[in-house]
Amino acid sequence: MSVQTSPIVEGFASRLLGWYDRSARVLPWRAPPGSDAAPDPYLVWMAEIMLQQTTVAAVIGYFGKFIARWPTVGDLAAADDADVMAAWAGLGYYARARNLLACARAVMTDHGGRFPDHEAGLRALPGIGDYTAASVAAIAFGRAAVVVDANIERVIARHRLILTPLPAAKRAIKAELAPLVPSERPGDFAQAMMDLGATICTPRGPACGICPLIADCRARGRADLDRIPVKPAKKAKPQRFGVAYWIERAGRVWLVQRPGKGMLGGMRALPGGEWSDAAPAESGIVAVDHSFTHFDLRLMLVRGETPDDAAEGTWWPIAELDAAGLPTLYRKLTDKMLES
Ligand code: ADE
Repeated sequence: MSVQTSPIVEGFASRLLGWYDRSARVLPWRAPPGSDAAPDPYLVWMAEIMLQQTTVAAVIGYFGKFIARWPTVGDLAAADDADVMAAWAGLGYYARARNLLACARAVMTDHGGRFPDHEAGLRALPGIGDYTAASVAAIAFGRAAVVVDANIERVIARHRLILTPLPAAKRAIKAELAPLVPSERPGDFAQAMMDLGATICTPRGPACGICPLIADCRARGRADLDRIPVKPAKKAKPQRFGVAYWIERAGRVWLVQRPGKGMLGGMRALPGGEWSDAAPAESGIVAVDHSFTHFDLRLMLVRGETPDDAAEGTWWPIAELDAAGLPTLYRKLTDKMLES
């Protein structure tokens, strides 16, 4: 959503940008604050896809690895699917990696290798939703888009004292934020909000004493700051169960590729059946618990004798399991198996 915007005035944006000029985190996809150098849209897009649901600390190593291996969108578009999935292993939310490739290929085939420079064009690409379209439009192309991630949500919910629980509060948060977005430096504005949320207006124990926005913060001095934004009541996650097989032969273990669609789609994994709501009768050698967004999984490891005749897979050297690109769930299980 682009909005009617105003130039920087002595107000919210100018205080925030003044702080950002002094305190911006130095990150490899960024142009330095206020610089005329435009950031590379490919790097911005890659960072924004990787940073969904997670933190800069979790992403930074992956970002460096991806950019070193595939320095341009053309290089990524030409990559092997399996290599990209393996390089993504551990970051989670694997549909994002499949979409990353689909998007790079769409940019090459449909857009001559250049990312569209506005929200609507970006939004039409695979894996780019409202958040990513707005953030890439603002950061890479200087569009005055309204960017709302979890950090920004928290800053605005506090500054404007929005006490409606999430997700219902999102509409009010966006409405409060939209008129604050400056027409100059909207990309720095968005990233300044993110940095403020990550370093000062933190979920717990915010550092209000050094906040550039404290003067008119409506939550100032409240004892319940840590509870804003108000979270929805937590629903208990359903518990599911699965069995995976450890089939070993001459120092190698049988690995398969999970089907392209669905949980951990396209990732390398230990073979196993469907996950179900019923606890399996057999007991395994080891088991791990892993939490996905919508359910908790207990995965048990059972020794198997021979691979399924029909299944395609690889005998992977056990000493080189690190390089197999297993998602965290299976990494936890193989680590535990090898320790046992
Ligand atoms: N989180 C999401 N996008 C970000 C960015 N561009 N800089 C810092 N943190 C972020």
